[in-house]
Amino acid sequence: MGAPTQNPLWGPDWLQVRAMWPIDPAIAHLNHGSFGAVPVPVIEAQDRWRRKMESDPTGFFWWVLPDALEEARRATAGFLEADPDGFVFVANATTAVNTVLRSVGLRRGDQVLLSDHGYGAIRLAAERACGLAGAEVVVQPVPLPRGGPNELGDAFLAGVTERTRIAVVDHIASPTAMVFPVGHIVRRLREVGVLSFVDGAHAPGMVDVNLGSLAPDFWTGNFHKWCCAPRGAAGLYVAPEHRERIVPLVTSWNAPEGFVSSFGYLGTDDYTPYLTVPTAIEFMGTLGWERVRTHNRALSRMGGDMIREAIDSKPEWSVDEGLFEAMTIVALPGTAVRTMDEGKDVSRRLAERFGIEAAVFPWRERGFLRLSAQAYNAPAEYERLAHALREVLPGG
Ligand SMILES: Cc1ncc(COP(=O)(O)O)c(C=O)c1O
Repeated sequence: MGAPTQNPLWGPDWLQVRAMWPIDPAIAHLNHGSFGAVPVPVIEAQDRWRRKMESDPTGFFWWVLPDALEEARRATAGFLEADPDGFVFVANATTAVNTVLRSVGLRRGDQVLLSDHGYGAIRLAAERACGLAGAEVVVQPVPLPRGGPNELGDAFLAGVTERTRIAVVDHIASPTAMVFPVGHIVRRLREVGVLSFVDGAHAPGMVDVNLGSLAPDFWTGNFHKWCCAPRGAAGLYVAPEHRERIVPLVTSWNAPEGFVSSFGYLGTDDYTPYLTVPTAIEFMGTLGWERVRTHNRALSRMGGDMIREAIDSKPEWSVDEGLFEAMTIVALPGTAVRTMDEGKDVSRRLAERFGIEAAVFPWRERGFLRLSAQAYNAPAEYERLAHALREVLPGG
């Protein structure tokens, strides 16, 4: 890639960057946050693994996969500054959370603390695990902050009671895109004897992750979001004192072999997403992590401002620099989006009429647009969305 551009938002070398993603040029993909997007060199790397597998299926599973997986696992743990003895691949953050909550040993009367910025499927997973154990889910309301990110942390921690056994906190929240101060939260939870589980579904790639210094009890993060790895590639970290207890949801051959090995083979499957994670990390590294992050931060902020102005929406939260990274939110006017289905309707109209993929969710029964910015996005796409939104929102 050429020398870094002076303009973090766009310029000739960003066009070269965009060309590395096979995204249909007719589509404005402004929802990287939901399912990511895989660049061509990473697709090709995964293809090479798949061809190797198909050239000798038995040989691949018996003689190639174990060592290749071990190498990928160690390299990925290194990227997260994680103790490799506590780090394993799982298919996605949902699997990681289900795994931990089902095997951590919840007891009758325990509370599992979540925030109301949490991801809906994780709440369902917590409710099922608690239902089986006679424990209780507590969803702590965390208001949109007027000041800095520490307000988020303190509001979340106010939900801790003497019955709280484990607290699951998003590093970057799904519906509100806000960056929670997870360092502060993990430290405080440790002081009061509550287990910490950081749901970093959006964290790897979007922000620096250093699991050595964060030292949570449990952590998960997706590589198929902001590291642009193939889908079905996430990590689970478990602190030393819990490794004996945490077992995969699926029991297979390696079950008797301890924490790391027991997650290494969960039956016949396509393990190539895991094998490709180091290539994805390396690819994004060649674009320049800081350069991409600066671009994404500036672009999501600019896109948010542009859209707010177009639909006359005022932010009701602090504009503190540290609150958002590569995603931001815009509050939608009126009451048209109070349910997931109503949000999907707006997204569908944007897709069908304007070729724009954008996430519209309800949060506390209010409609929000969640904007993502990744290396392949450009300012004109947000301008297009600003015009389109005026047409698709009720009354437009
Ligand atoms: C905070 C959070 N947790 C968990 C998930 C689930 O991720 P996955 O679908 O990869 O399991 C998401 C997905 O966007 C998320 O935003």
